[in-house]
Amino acid sequence: MEPTDVLTVSEVARRSGFAASALRYYEEQGLIQSARTSGGQRRYRRSVLRRLAFIRAASNVGLTLDEIREELVQLPENRTPTKSDWHRISAHWRTRLDEQMAALEALRDKLDSCIGCGCLSLKQCAISNPSDLAARSASAPGAAYLPPLLRRQAARGR
Ligand code: FES
Repeated sequence: MEPTDVLTVSEVARRSGFAASALRYYEEQGLIQSARTSGGQRRYRRSVLRRLAFIRAASNVGLTLDEIREELVQLPENRTPTKSDWHRISAHWRTRLDEQMAALEALRDKLDSCIGCGCLSLKQCAISNPSDLAARSASAPGAAYLPPLLRRQAARGR
């Protein structure tokens, strides 16, 4: 790396808005990479800022870390994504957002029967057990009762 092309952890944290701990975590997860100085300090290519902006946007769309990793694998490491890269990615994200909105709307429509109730019964409550998933999956407790898209989001919140 050329000296002008490298950034320290604190520079990346300041310019990206991510905490240094988040940078470490994303690096451990293989989403970004750094090089080490002879003293063992991390240095990032300037292009990491673009990848971090991508991670933030993908996270805002609701992608899991695994999904973000899959998207990043398809992006070039050292160049800005092209118009065609963005076209492909944004089309996928649009579909993803449409699915999330449909899942949330379906859940909202079922909420009417819960207002003022509070039972949260797996037998009666459409919010606790949408689509009666318990009848199909006796071996998957808890969040398995959520629609798949919302289940992924619940898992992220842990
Ligand atoms: S909380 Fe009772 S039906 Fe949903």
